[in-house]
Amino acid sequence: MYPPWTSVEDAVRLLQAGQVVAIPTETVYGLAGNTYNETALAKIFEAKERPTFDPLIVHIAEIDQLDDVAKDIPEAAYRLAQAYWPGPLTMILPKKDCIPDLATSGLPSVAVRFPSHPVARRIIKESGLPLAAPSANLFKHVSPTTALHVAEQLGDRIAGIVDGGPCQVGVESSIVSLTGNTPAILRPGAITPEMVKDILGEVIVKTSSSQPGKPMTAPGQCDTHYRPQVPLYYGEVPQGYALPKRTARIAFGNGAGPIPETVNLSKAGDMVEATANLYALMHELDNPDYDLILVDPIPNIGIGMALNDRLKRASIRQLP
Ligand code: TXA
Ligand code: MG
Repeated sequence: MYPPWTSVEDAVRLLQAGQVVAIPTETVYGLAGNTYNETALAKIFEAKERPTFDPLIVHIAEIDQLDDVAKDIPEAAYRLAQAYWPGPLTMILPKKDCIPDLATSGLPSVAVRFPSHPVARRIIKESGLPLAAPSANLFKHVSPTTALHVAEQLGDRIAGIVDGGPCQVGVESSIVSLTGNTPAILRPGAITPEMVKDILGEVIVKTSSSQPGKPMTAPGQCDTHYRPQVPLYYGEVPQGYALPKRTARIAFGNGAGPIPETVNLSKAGDMVEATANLYALMHELDNPDYDLILVDPIPNIGIGMALNDRLKRASIRQLP
């Protein structure tokens, strides 16, 4: 039962002993394990009920650690790292042989991120290990942005949870692949395509979805990722449509909606604030008091692209 939360010292000890521990990052909480320990990796997949064709992100605590896990690192990777690490950016690079196939689902590439959260940085540094960590939620569920969210989903399955407060960014990192001819965004996040282009001069945005039987090279690409239990609808509500009585509305800004707002992502219409609040509000409204969650439209620009991406995946296709 939680709390008490796990201390940094205990987390380091548990991770070195091959256990899995949830740790805070600035994006979402991660479920961490020793990248080099296949038993620890297996525990991550088992706790999350995550299929092993969905590869993990490896977390490091300094740029110098990049060549411990990746090889043939292009100069573009170092330029991006200088600009946006530590921070909400994951890079896909050719993997070193020391990275177990289980971490990468057999792909020849590895996802690497250097998070900025001070607690994450301390845990990675003090453990002396690159830590494999997917988001600390059950597969296909909404990612946790507080320690309590983790406890609700995984509390009785893992060795510990470190509380580092609510996540400041609130959506998963941007994923940029540097394995092709042109840098490609595989998952939108707080590091926007414009920000990548500023550094590298070019970028493409890939929004492919999963193919049965193949590793997910485009991440989080199950179309039904990030779904709450209560049906969530992100889209136009036709005029005069009879919504279920127990509908909750997640508003954005001060626009009118089909029903009065239940909660608001950002009254000021600030997209950074909205991003930080989205998952917490989804968790809050995902309870038996409601039959439907409606979300106001959010402009599909900048970090709003990350919100639109997650909300489209979370959304049912048609109103009930
Ligand atoms: O912000 C984040 O990235 C959080 C925190 C904990 O760091 N982590 C996270 O991990 O969102 P996860 O497992 O929920 O999402 C990682 C995604 C997966 O969907 C996977 O498909 C993709 O990264 N991925 C991992 N390795 C890959 C690779 N070699 N090539 C392409 N995609 C990869
Ligand atoms: Mg995830």
